Amino acid sequence: MSKTVTRRDTFKFIAAGLAATSVACSTKTVKAPTTRPVLLNPINDRWSNTHDRVWLGGEYWANPMEDWRISNGAAECVTTGGQRSVHALQHQLVDTSKTFKTSVRVKLLETGKEDGGVAIRLGVRSEINEYRSNCFVQQGLDIGVINNQIALGSKRKSLTRAINNDEIDIIITGSPQAQLVALNVEIISVSSGESLGQMEALVGTEELLGNIAVVSNFNIPSFDSGPNQSRSDAGRYQFSNWHIEGEAFSNNVEQKFGPILWTMYTLSDSRSDEGFIMKLSALTGPLGEKDSKDVVLQVRKNGKWVEISKADLDTDGWVATFRIPNWDESQATPYRVIYKESQVDGSLKPDVYEGTIKANPAGRKMRMAALTCQNDYAFPYEPVAKNVAKLDPDLVFFSGDQLYESHGGFGIIRVPAKMAILNYLRKYYQFGWAFRDAMRNAPTICLPDDHDVLQGNLWGEGGAAMPMAAHDENRVDKAGGYIEPIKMVNVVHQTHTAHHMEPIEPNPSKRGMSVYYGELIYGDVSFAIVADRQWKSGPERLNVIVGTSGNDEEPNFINPKWNSNDLHLLGDRQEQFLKRWAQDWRGHKLKALLSQTIFASLATHQMNPQHYLKYDFDANGWPASGRDRAISAIKGSKALHICGDTHLPSVSQYGLEQQRDSNWAFCTPAIAVGWQRWWRPDDIGLNYANRPQHGMPNTGEYLDSFGNKNYIYAIGDPEVSRSKNRYVMAHEKCSGFGFITFDKEEMTYKMDAYRFMIDATDGKASNQFEGWPLTIKQSDNQSA
Ligand SMILES: [Fe+2]
Repeated sequence: MSKTVTRRDTFKFIAAGLAATSVACSTKTVKAPTTRPVLLNPINDRWSNTHDRVWLGGEYWANPMEDWRISNGAAECVTTGGQRSVHALQHQLVDTSKTFKTSVRVKLLETGKEDGGVAIRLGVRSEINEYRSNCFVQQGLDIGVINNQIALGSKRKSLTRAINNDEIDIIITGSPQAQLVALNVEIISVSSGESLGQMEALVGTEELLGNIAVVSNFNIPSFDSGPNQSRSDAGRYQFSNWHIEGEAFSNNVEQKFGPILWTMYTLSDSRSDEGFIMKLSALTGPLGEKDSKDVVLQVRKNGKWVEISKADLDTDGWVATFRIPNWDESQATPYRVIYKESQVDGSLKPDVYEGTIKANPAGRKMRMAALTCQNDYAFPYEPVAKNVAKLDPDLVFFSGDQLYESHGGFGIIRVPAKMAILNYLRKYYQFGWAFRDAMRNAPTICLPDDHDVLQGNLWGEGGAAMPMAAHDENRVDKAGGYIEPIKMVNVVHQTHTAHHMEPIEPNPSKRGMSVYYGELIYGDVSFAIVADRQWKSGPERLNVIVGTSGNDEEPNFINPKWNSNDLHLLGDRQEQFLKRWAQDWRGHKLKALLSQTIFASLATHQMNPQHYLKYDFDANGWPASGRDRAISAIKGSKALHICGDTHLPSVSQYGLEQQRDSNWAFCTPAIAVGWQRWWRPDDIGLNYANRPQHGMPNTGEYLDSFGNKNYIYAIGDPEVSRSKNRYVMAHEKCSGFGFITFDKEEMTYKMDAYRFMIDATDGKASNQFEGWPLTIKQSDNQSA
């Protein structure tokens, strides 16, 4: 099976079904849907009736969230950075054969040395013209005011007088004219009611279709780092009375995102008098002091909704967590979460989010989706999200990197903690936005990894802070410890794992950092959940210079100086937990270990296929001593290890004393591969033995660079991507997801590795990476 995606394949993909995922291959052929809900009644923003707070409401997406506030009934940008925008989520401009009108009231809040301009932006559109993906595009047709001139795209016309500090209304109308659209923009002074100018233009449909946004400083670029990240020499603006009207706009109320953003839940057999425990987290956007904080959980019993619990929103992570012991796990139970948003006028606006708590899959096969690494160039990953929802798994597992530092643009804020949290949350919200339907109706396990705490690599050192010297010397990608404030790290843990079962030993690690390792028993399977970087030793302990040390060594040479018995991988606490877990067989038949990454170093080349990197200390093949202790702790469990992180799907078997004497590991494909890795030991002459019968290259028994014994059964090496379409690019880079079927009768694990742009339910062999599916027996986890 060829791994190369040809140009012809690309067109085949698009022709064959990507209509279902809204993919268009060229921005020049934007098509409006044939049927659509039309905006029949004008829409006005609700900010005037909303309490002061960060989050602008479920009808909007703010770029970036932390730079906006509702204040005194208006949405104001709190920084002077460029390209700060607010998108309307429910209304896209989709039909230019109809008329439209939109207006917004604007006030300059802070004057800078230059004027960055204020505008309504039309035609904001990604290459797939999907409303969520459109939110992150920083260009369109800007219509507004700059330097006391009307701006309409690149055209300018002087106003009749200077605006000074007047509030103004920007009013835009559009109507079809021949094959074009006649636009009119007028600027009105609010205090005097006088017209300060007007301008007309004929524009093509192409310039208008897509999202509509309001923009503070539309004429200044945004920066992802440096002093201009959130500041510039410009001013900043406030918006109110945003009005959208006309049948040219769509009206999709289901595209609202919040106040309840999404939910995650788990169901687990406590093997105590609490029976099965159901835990559920509901996340909202960051609300204000005067907003209500209580969230209600209801279930449907005998045809009626019954309230079973209330929980308060945590005001750091904006998550409310419910814990219901003695849950009836024998049947599926519809649930709904209700949040009543208090309004300035004293009324309450309810938001309802519904789903189903699945029945415990006892006495039948249990089916689990396993996902990892979502680089947002392929946001919102619809082919994967839809496949997961379609497969209707009993359990969904996200093993880490639900976000990357670059998510959504606009850079990283690390201090103060309050802003670091908001900066994290809006990146994390993209994950929920993409996958909430996959999580709505199935238990979800969600582990934070390094990028989730905004570090490219993480050697957690038990929760220690990264030494300031490492910051100062720009060694942050090489030193041990956490960069982010402890409060932010704890919010990451909370928003990822509060709905998991309670940690097995809840006492925090260093500096009060929360822990989440523990066990979940569901569908006759026990899952051990561990944090495989929180206690990991930093390479500086061996004076390693990451990316440099040892790179001149011969590939087959195993250098003992890169190992030491006093280095940690999982740490003592988790090793002791796993030893006990491996021996405890109460209430289940099969076991699986869930962690972020594989306990091996299965990559020879990184970044590009020519770049051989002998040592990757970020891989959990290092430290080999800690890796050996982890595997000997789980060996008796006969567990399959399920993980992700490497962006390189693999099925392998660990060896301790000898090759193939320990557990199998399934490292699942990344949802959207960013950084590429390859396992091409044959190309560098790495010794191997006992290649599997299928005879595929780069498989068989190898020692990785750290001397760890690994039997590689299958590997999904990627090609270099060439496409500009996000979904084709993700497919070419070998993105996708894993699926595991636990058969408790046959005592087997079946592993599927699905590619990105396929229909996982049509049964085609080409849907999977070469070497998959593979079924192993439970007993295979102790020997060949
Ligand atoms: Fe990743």
